[in-house]
Amino acid sequence: KVFTLMTVLAMLLLAACSDSGSGKVIVATDAAYAPFEYLKDGKMTGFDIELLEAVMKEAGVEYEVKNTGWEPLFTSLNNEEVQAGISAITINDKRKKTYDFSDPYFESVNMIMTKEESSVASAKDLDGKKVGVQTGTTGQEALEKLFGKNNENIKKYESNVLAIQALLNGEVEAVVADNGVLQEYVKNNPDKKVKAIEDKENFESEYYGIIFPKKSEHVKDINKGLKKVIDSGKYAEIYKKWFGE
Ligand code: ARG
Repeated sequence: KVFTLMTVLAMLLLAACSDSGSGKVIVATDAAYAPFEYLKDGKMTGFDIELLEAVMKEAGVEYEVKNTGWEPLFTSLNNEEVQAGISAITINDKRKKTYDFSDPYFESVNMIMTKEESSVASAKDLDGKKVGVQTGTTGQEALEKLFGKNNENIKKYESNVLAIQALLNGEVEAVVADNGVLQEYVKNNPDKKVKAIEDKENFESEYYGIIFPKKSEHVKDINKGLKKVIDSGKYAEIYKKWFGE
């Protein structure tokens, strides 16, 4: 009897300590990508952050957001320091080889941002000019496809905020990043005298997903949560708050 009791206690202890089911899910982000994820008065906020909150509530998953930065988000998934990531992350075949994704939750496309007086009107006009982009993004990929992988005019920055800084400093002629981010920046910073340019011929439509390590146990529940958030109208509410009608 004592043995049985000990066994049961040991099993309970094991269950309590293991990640499966009981531990908090740590969700990595790069909070330098307004309006999706950014710091406001030191607090993490944005469309992704609010969507995540709604989804996790529906899914009944306890979680915590960790501001890792962009490239460390992926390495933290690789070494299991975090169990998920939300960061305006485009679902693509290359990433799908290494990671799992939730169902898509947002449509996006790369755009160009440049100074108002610039003559740049399309991606082709960037040829021979210095262009800033966040390292390891689909924006970098799109530029490499257009101008070659080792083209030294493609200037890579650790964060999108730094790429925009480089544009304002005159270090680069333009920045390539997601439309939601660049349109928001142009709108909120009239004093910076920049414009956002669309080029649907050279930039393809993309979809964001929540990212997970391969075979993550959380994908199913989180997809269910996401579906509930969409069906209940909560998604539309959050969307309206951040992007208007
Ligand atoms: N959607 C683009 C990608 O997946 C850029 C995302 C950058 N996100 C961020 N939080 N910095 O590559």
